[in-house]
Amino acid sequence: MKQNSITIDYIEYESLDSMPAEDVALIEKAVEIARKSYSPYSKFPVGAAVRLDNGEIYAGNNQENVAYPSGTCAERTVLNYVNANFPDNNIEAIAITSLKSNSSIPITPCGFCRQVIMEMEYSQHQNIRIILHKIGGPTYVFHSAPALLPLAFIGEMLQ
Ligand code: THU
Repeated sequence: MKQNSITIDYIEYESLDSMPAEDVALIEKAVEIARKSYSPYSKFPVGAAVRLDNGEIYAGNNQENVAYPSGTCAERTVLNYVNANFPDNNIEAIAITSLKSNSSIPITPCGFCRQVIMEMEYSQHQNIRIILHKIGGPTYVFHSAPALLPLAFIGEMLQ
């Protein structure tokens, strides 16, 4: 028998003042697109913005549906869009935020979205920085997807 543990490293910024300008720009885009979210059921608007390796930024938000499981998170809205349209560009970073939160920490992506970020990182052979922002609060930066999904299932078919 052996006791193991997994440690997650991330950077916390108290405010945007001390963050790299390109990350602040990505966060601002995520906040902007969150305002256009279609979330009449949860009333929990989320925005996500992605920066590609050519510097271009794309953004998406959560799109809900009266048949609840038909809705899509902000992260997958934008990730699937960029992967569909720019399959040859790598994703450098994704910023995620919510307009509402009862928590003192930033919103964290759901398990579905973590799995999708994981596979995109794995298939592009380049880490994706994950930037979680709370408006008026702290920002957490994770260097790559496995930090948010340790021991992830990366199927045999990908190898
Ligand atoms: N949601 C996201 O868009 N991203 C997340 O990381 C967590 C949750 C959405 C799904 C749903 O529309 C609403 O937030 C409430 O769960």
